[in-house]
Amino acid sequence: MSKFASLLALLAIVPSLAYAQAPVYGQCGGIGWSGATTCVSGSVCTKQNDYYSQCLPGAASSAPTSPPTTSAPSSTPVSTPPTGTTTGGSAPSSTPAAGNPFVGVTPFLSPYYAAEVAAAADAITDSTLKAKAASVAKIPTFTWLDSVAKVPDLGTYLADASALQKSSGQPQVVQIVVYDLPDRDCAAKASNGEFSIADGGQAKYYDYIDQIVAQIKKFPDVRVIAVIEPDSLANLVTNLNVQKCANAQTTYKACVTYALNQLASVGVYQYMDAGHAGWLGWPANIQPAAQLFADMFKSANSSKFVRGLATNVANYNALSAASPDPITQGDPNYDELHYINALGPMLAQQGFPAQFVVDQGRSGQQNLRQQWGDWCNIKGAGFGTRPTTNTGSSLIDAIVWVKPGGESDGTSNSSSPRFDSTCSLSDATQPAPEAGTWFQTYFETLVSKANPPL
Ligand SMILES: *[C@@H]1O[C@H](CO)[C@@H](O)[C@H](O)[C@H]1NC(C)=O
Ligand SMILES: *[C@@H]1O[C@H](CO)[C@@H](O)[C@H](O)[C@H]1NC(C)=O
Repeated sequence: MSKFASLLALLAIVPSLAYAQAPVYGQCGGIGWSGATTCVSGSVCTKQNDYYSQCLPGAASSAPTSPPTTSAPSSTPVSTPPTGTTTGGSAPSSTPAAGNPFVGVTPFLSPYYAAEVAAAADAITDSTLKAKAASVAKIPTFTWLDSVAKVPDLGTYLADASALQKSSGQPQVVQIVVYDLPDRDCAAKASNGEFSIADGGQAKYYDYIDQIVAQIKKFPDVRVIAVIEPDSLANLVTNLNVQKCANAQTTYKACVTYALNQLASVGVYQYMDAGHAGWLGWPANIQPAAQLFADMFKSANSSKFVRGLATNVANYNALSAASPDPITQGDPNYDELHYINALGPMLAQQGFPAQFVVDQGRSGQQNLRQQWGDWCNIKGAGFGTRPTTNTGSSLIDAIVWVKPGGESDGTSNSSSPRFDSTCSLSDATQPAPEAGTWFQTYFETLVSKANPPL
């Protein structure tokens, strides 16, 4: 007994030697914490709950980087039906963190998206198109937890995935997007969220994360992969000239750090959203972006569960363009592969051995846009490469469909409170419904223009 106790004590000491002081926004205490309990100067260790204390900026904080803006794309929530209830967790789950988390597991199909697609196919009269449309229900997408009300659905999906893997013998992975930051979508309007910083949004966000963690703890047998907060950190790289983004900087960093640490503690593999080639891939943006992502990784205790970065989420870029789209002129990183190949080594150099996932859900057709920054319901887009771990790049864990194709990027109704003028540009399909709601004609185009064909 005493031998074990002293061994445990020794194990507990080792990390605290390696991490003499926690970085700004890093963890500095909590039940089970064995890392640094003091913070680097300029920040103060602040208790958030029994399980988590965090270094928050005191007197000084890190200097912002503000290179030129290329317009920020927005991302879109998916609506899922409210089901089930949240209850307390049991044993914490912990998948061993090693290697590509997409290998050896089958993505759990969102029943919500499958139902949307089935209804859409039903509404199509052309029998060839109808059959192609129906086949989309079998292609895995991510579930966007874009409000607290959606979190119980995660519990339902995890329960279903757990039952399915027991009956089929095939391990399942549930793919989610964590997307509820206070003052969300700070540089655009179409995907503004439910929390505001002025109204206690940070505490509400921590509670949202705690609720997700509680669901995941109930199903330690099911693997979970998460994309973390589309557009948020990218906005901090290029859009601090926007008042709402400047105001949100400290809160975004604290909230994302909280999410990374809490989700890592229950074995969730995470990819922080890293915009796309036409945003952070520009020479002026890529180095500051690498710095920020490496800093965030360190603030999550360099956890192996912070696997890397997600690019092109809800966007339209090619992974590997046959030739550069003319709108990319001036950016040597004219597609996602060039961007990843440039960013990966910069991150590795800063101690973040990042792997990538790339959204190709709507990237089947290229050279569609008037400007690279256009992101809203782009005309003529088609479904792209199917999700696969056969990526052709050692830096890319998987090609994924993060955005459920057929759900709108934003409304074209100029009277709507969430109207963003990008959604009424000439390359945006109109009339378009609110972000996240079903857009039937758009879905039909994605099906008919799919490349490879459905
Ligand atoms: C922090 O990192 C150290 C060293 O890798 C590890 O031993 C410790 O368990 C980590 N703590 C958490 C909470 O992940
Ligand atoms: C546009 O939005 C306004 C305000 O939300 C609404 O009253 C109106 O019905 C909408 N128009 C259309 C065509 O949906």
